[in-house]
Amino acid sequence: MKIDILTLFPEMFSNFTKDSIIKRAVDQNLVEVNIIDFREYSKDPHKKVDDTPYGGGNGMVLMCQPIYDCIEDIKTEDSKVIMLTPDGTTYKQKVAYDLSKEKHLILLCGHYEGFDERIRNIVDMELSIGDYVLTGGEYPAMVIADSIIRLIPGVIEEESHLRDSFNDCLLDYETYTKPQNFRGMQVPEVLLSGDHKKIDEFRQVSRYNRTKERRPDLLE
Ligand code: ADE
Repeated sequence: MKIDILTLFPEMFSNFTKDSIIKRAVDQNLVEVNIIDFREYSKDPHKKVDDTPYGGGNGMVLMCQPIYDCIEDIKTEDSKVIMLTPDGTTYKQKVAYDLSKEKHLILLCGHYEGFDERIRNIVDMELSIGDYVLTGGEYPAMVIADSIIRLIPGVIEEESHLRDSFNDCLLDYETYTKPQNFRGMQVPEVLLSGDHKKIDEFRQVSRYNRTKERRPDLLE
């Protein structure tokens, strides 16, 4: 998979592929991540990318020209163009699964007051990472790219994402590691029993109880 991230602040991504699982995925050529400064596409002599809103009001609005030219330059018939915006559909694990099967994602990060409305005509999808407003789409792009990259076959063992929170609409089960007793807090006996059938049952119940307590909306 190829992920192109379009931003005015490329420096914000300088460590994104430098550590841990994302680094390994890049090193193994399972994903290619390119950070593209769309200011480079501005035809304005001062490389301007935004202007004041028609009709008046606060803030600046991202102009069509640099973003259209940039997307038209890199887009192929395999590309899916995604705008990051608080007005978008709320991002969910199911969308991450679907997007992890795409060949080429283009993630468009906004900044300032917003996008010229006509930019929406060149995107396939608008995503929000939650009901709050950030200063730009850069963190949302990292959140979305991270959650997709870990689902690309070969990046992590499939078994470890089959039990991820939100699969089957359930949160993940409780886990423990050594020591068995920490400050009087014991690891549940069943996990030490070696009885895999019982352990599986315990984990299913753990997932259900957690979900019921913390996210009853997921059970509906
Ligand atoms: N840009 C600013 N806030 C955002 C959000 N919550 N999700 C996606 N993009 C954004």
